[in-house]
Amino acid sequence: MENLIELDKKHFIHPTSSIQDQQAKGAKLIVEKGEGVYLTDTKGDTYIDGMSSLWNVNIGHGRKELAEVAKQQMEKLAFSSTFSTFSHEPAIRLAKKIADLAPRNLNAVFFTSGGSESNDSAIKIARHYWKIQGQPERNKIVSLKRGYHGVAAGSTSATGIPQFWEMAGHMMTGFAHARTPYEIGTKQSIESIREVIEAEGPETIAAFLAEPVQGAGGVLIPPQDYFKEVRELCDAYGILFIADEVITGFGRTGTMFGIEHWQVEPDLMTFAKGVTSGYLPLGGVIVSDKVHDVLKEKSVGTLFHGFTYSGHPTAAAVALKNIEIIENEGLVENSRKMGEELLKGFQRIKGELNIVGEVRALGLLGAVELVEDPATNKRFSSDLGVAPRVIEALHERGVICRSVTYDQTDIICFSPPLVMDKAQVDTVIERLHDAILSVQQEISIKS
Ligand SMILES: Cc1ncc(COP(=O)(O)O)c(C=O)c1O
Repeated sequence: MENLIELDKKHFIHPTSSIQDQQAKGAKLIVEKGEGVYLTDTKGDTYIDGMSSLWNVNIGHGRKELAEVAKQQMEKLAFSSTFSTFSHEPAIRLAKKIADLAPRNLNAVFFTSGGSESNDSAIKIARHYWKIQGQPERNKIVSLKRGYHGVAAGSTSATGIPQFWEMAGHMMTGFAHARTPYEIGTKQSIESIREVIEAEGPETIAAFLAEPVQGAGGVLIPPQDYFKEVRELCDAYGILFIADEVITGFGRTGTMFGIEHWQVEPDLMTFAKGVTSGYLPLGGVIVSDKVHDVLKEKSVGTLFHGFTYSGHPTAAAVALKNIEIIENEGLVENSRKMGEELLKGFQRIKGELNIVGEVRALGLLGAVELVEDPATNKRFSSDLGVAPRVIEALHERGVICRSVTYDQTDIICFSPPLVMDKAQVDTVIERLHDAILSVQQEISIKS
């Protein structure tokens, strides 16, 4: 067999990776198989998948039921278009199922192949909504700093992490970013959104877009009253509210959708990832009755927006089976319970080690911040690379996690499969303790 590392270097351009690291060191891990919360590489080493890969493998790896459903659907009808009102049973049934699960005002679904396409679609649906009502100038999107919405044109621009705009030189016009409660507290953050809306001109804003919990920004859980106030602000200006549930959907935070924690109903809601647990690519936008009614009444002729794989029958059949497993195995409840255990473990570690700052979790979505001085929240110099060192130390101990280091933060993120049990949570906590302790000793020796 040819050397996979050499072939990878020569032919495979990896997404969101350092090309120079790849060339110097080769692929970090060549994963061969997955089972439950575990991944095994080609060397036979097994890791706990502390991120559900990309926050998406909610029901865990290796579920044969999904392979079986995909096989059956492919044999019957692998693919067929949904353009020009062609339809098929898997997409119809999945749209109905998602409408049943979503907050009660959201009852119609536009399908895509992933999260970025979903956010671009939501942005375009919001603009279309205003345009067909004679307000084409309402086309701007306000979102939050540290928010992540994907890498398509609109979703990159809505993303509030500048490195993603800079990669290709600039972002699109018509996007503005307000500050997060993480940086400045709830009231000021709501004020920051208001200031951005006022500065841009309220009559030019189509929608406000935010994740219920900012994921890639560092698992930033908003304060209790935040989304209630966001909803009130959007209503006061007549602006649509789009909730990006790409990570938080399908049980991740201990409720079916993240926004349920705050009893707020968005006008549009985007999803992807957990809808199929990553077994096949699928995403979409759930549309409220308010928006759907306007589309039904005023969207004349063809809606010029659609992806080849909008409503892919095999992906839809897999999504239906995945949701059935989430419901039958009580995985939303397990996410809530195991999330509480994870948080208790984080708190224990915080009590034992002196570089642990804020710890947080909502369901199985959590984070641990590393700081030089927890009393004052003084952050480490970014040159020290504290969070990446902890990630490396965790990797050596058989746990895969992810660090966030934007704006001089050192955050370790956790988003394990929702099938995780208490013994596995304890193992993660034990290894995290050892990993942080080893880095704490390393940096104190060096300083
Ligand atoms: C909140 C959120 N929105 C959108 C996306 C983009 O999804 P995709 O990578 O499937 O295009 C992601 C991906 O991580 C995400 O976390």
